[in-house]
This record gives sequence, structure tokens and C-alpha cells, in this order.
Amino acid sequence: MDFSGIRNIVILTGAGVSAESGLATFRGPDGLWEGHRVEDVCTPEAYRRDPALVHQFYDARREKLGTVQPNAAHEALARLDAEWPGELLLVTQNVDDLHERAGSKRLLHMHGELTSAWCLACDERFGWSGPMGEEASCPSCGERGRIRPDIVWFGEMPYEMERIEEALQRADLFVSVGTSGAVYPAAGFVQTARYCGAKTLEINLEPSLGSYMFDESRTGRAGEVVPAWVDELLQSDQSSPISR
Ligand code: OAD
Repeated sequence: MDFSGIRNIVILTGAGVSAESGLATFRGPDGLWEGHRVEDVCTPEAYRRDPALVHQFYDARREKLGTVQPNAAHEALARLDAEWPGELLLVTQNVDDLHERAGSKRLLHMHGELTSAWCLACDERFGWSGPMGEEASCPSCGERGRIRPDIVWFGEMPYEMERIEEALQRADLFVSVGTSGAVYPAAGFVQTARYCGAKTLEINLEPSLGSYMFDESRTGRAGEVVPAWVDELLQSDQSSPISR
């Protein structure tokens, strides 16, 4: 793919970008959805039915965060963010904090964050570390037992959709990294970007469900393919007449 003339970039990441850091993906043989049913831990109904089980699931995942580090893919994307002169938006479906720990700034978490909590009594959101459990008190209103993980569950609206749509409409390049393309609306971003004239590139271990919608698909480990792509893109920007 020829990257010359690209100014505005939207990058979508999924669980595959954190796999080499040691975090499980969702689908596939060792995926989180092999050990848990989505409807038991990842819906508002599940939380109403059995909050203890839902807290257990997210408390374990929050604890695991403390044992892992960003990998070469997160680091390359942070370098791109720091060096890219045009618009850039990194949209992650991941609820881990590895992109920000690597240094990405132009970042949004469309499915929420493990390190954020949401009080259902006063509607405040605030940072959270350590276990949440069922009996946590809200630091804002003091109410007990009304705090849930600030995660977008199935049936709920992902965050910042308007901002994402606007960025997709302005994008010259849309890149999807480490996502199976099984979950909408994220799986449909490629179509919006294409429709609005962007070039589209997929980077994934294997072709995803939506591979056929991309102009180009690069297969391999994110920790290898992403840094190589970032180098290529930054070099093409230096040789582009627009940046001179
Ligand atoms: P999936 O588990 O569905 O897909 C992960 C993708 O990453 C797969 O296509 C793998 O082949 C690929 N992959 C694995 N290791 C990789 C590596 N080292 N380098 C590159 N690619 C690799 O995860 P997501 O697509 O992120 O939502 O899942 C989307 C959403 O479904 C999640 O945000 C979550 C889940 O249910 C909620 O919890 C709301």
C-alpha cells in the first residue's frame, strides 16, 4: 500500500494487540469466552442476576493487569502518536491500560476501562485499582454496593461513538489491529472509513471475519507487524511533498 499523502489516521485495536503481553483474547481456544459465557458476565442482566460473579470476573482481570507490560505493538503505536503530524485517533476495544502505559495520548476506550468505576447511585465515574467487589463505597456520594465496572457490556452503547464517526469520516487511512471483527459497531468501522474514501489496512494473526473489506491484510504477530508498519508509515511521511 502506498502511504504517501496520508494525513488523518484512525487505528482500531482489539484483544490481539495485548496478546503478546500475556492477556487472553476473547475468542479462540484459550479465549476468555471459552471459560465464561458472555451472558453470565458481560451483560447488564448478568450483573442484576449475579453481581458477585460479574465482580469476580472483572476483579481477576484487573488484578492480572498489574502483572503485565505493554509490548512492542503498544510501544510502536505510542511512537506513531508522538511523531505523527496529522490527525490521529487510536480507538481501542480493550479494557486494559496498556496503550496509555506505553504512552499513547490520542486514545479512547470505546468499551470502557478496567481501571474505571461507575457509581449507579450518583452516576459519577472515577479511577479504580484493586478489587471492586459487591460492597465497595462510592468516593463521591458514599453509597455502598452501587459501584459497577465501567465496562460497556453487550446491549449497551459504546463510548464516544460520535467522535469516532467524525474521525472515520475525515480519515485518509483506517488500520485495524488484533481484532476478530465479530463485534459491532467496531467491526463496521472499516465500511464507514472506506465509504468516506480512506485506505484500509488490517493487521491480524490470521485473516479476520471482515478481512475481505480491507484494501490490504497483513498477517502475523502484532508485536512484529505493527512496528514494521509504523516505520514504513513514518518514512513515507518524511518523503511526502505535503510534509515539506
Ligand atoms: P477477539 O478475541 O474476538 O479477537 C482477537 C483477534 O486477535 C483474533 O482475530 C486473533 O487471531 C488476533 N490475535 C491473537 N493474537 C494476536 C497477535 N499476537 N497479534 C495479532 N493478532 C492477534 O477480540 P476482539 O476482537 O478485541 O467486548 O473482541 C471484540 C470485543 O468482543 C471485545 O472488546 C469484548 C469482546 O466480547 C466486550 O467485552 C464488550
